[in-house]
Amino acid sequence: MDFTGAHILSINQFERSDIERIFEVADAMEPYALRRKATRVLEGAILGNMFFEPSTRTRVSFGAAFNLLGGEVRETTGFQNSAITKGESLYDTARVLSGYSDVICMRHPEEGSVSEFAAASRVPVLNGGDGSNEHPSQALLDLYTIRQELKDRNRGIDGLRIAMIGDLKHGRTVHSLCKLLCLFQNVQVTLVSPPELAMPEDIVEKLREAGHDVTVSEELTHSITHVDIAYSTRIQEERFKSKEEADLYRGRFRLNQAIYTQFCEPNTVIMHPLPRDSRADANELDNDLNQNPNLAIFRQADNGVLVRMALFALVLNVADQVDKYAHPVTWYSGR
Ligand code: NCD
Repeated sequence: MDFTGAHILSINQFERSDIERIFEVADAMEPYALRRKATRVLEGAILGNMFFEPSTRTRVSFGAAFNLLGGEVRETTGFQNSAITKGESLYDTARVLSGYSDVICMRHPEEGSVSEFAAASRVPVLNGGDGSNEHPSQALLDLYTIRQELKDRNRGIDGLRIAMIGDLKHGRTVHSLCKLLCLFQNVQVTLVSPPELAMPEDIVEKLREAGHDVTVSEELTHSITHVDIAYSTRIQEERFKSKEEADLYRGRFRLNQAIYTQFCEPNTVIMHPLPRDSRADANELDNDLNQNPNLAIFRQADNGVLVRMALFALVLNVADQVDKYAHPVTWYSGR
């Protein structure tokens, strides 16, 4: 695809070569993300960061990624701080805000809302999550992490064995990740959830059409015995009719060090898009895994900066100029 000026709304828009290009640019961003160098390539550019649902990682890492490229960030968070509460349409909001920004990232609780907004925007729009639908930048950073974690083991994305665990019905990260895996070959996917929270049938169908081996299970321990990646997810409480309904599923798939030691192959990589629910009745990934070197969740979150820098550099067409505007950093960096 031609990235210049493109909206990034869904994994459906990518081919495998696009993913390779994004990862190649993300690799080149490492010295900047690690503060070994700084660049002013986006000096003067403005990111409109519009988050109408709670967000820590996605919002801050999109902002940090833009700052690391030398640009400025203007943020709107929550409906209460926006004229949308006065009845303004997404169309009008997009027309106006795209006049103030060079690129916009948006998260919104309704499926399809970010695409609707993008259709009216005069600048590229990046989907930071639209309801239960998609979260393309998260899937890209997840796949980038999988590639990095498996690199030293002579394993890659083709031939991957992955278990996705938890709320697969509402989890937009796993929806996008499954679509992304369809661009690769020979993937074994085990989908672990209660039947009520199963992966949507159209996505399962897509995985099968891609020739992947899909197993559906309700049971955690036997599903993680022969996988490269155990990808846990949070029960998406905010998508349920009531907290009580979400509570029915909380804590069903707890993973801790004892279970890991007993059931997983050594070196199975543990991932989670975060936030993990660490309340006592949930404990999706127990704190006793924090010392496990295969707990990749914080490396995964760090990779979000690289991948989001790559997306900005590509859609604003500066990927090949980043180094030209580089300069050394002068401050202490503990990294
Ligand atoms: C996810 C999201 O918002 O979809 N978080 C994230 O962006 N890293 C997952 C979640 O909230 O459970």
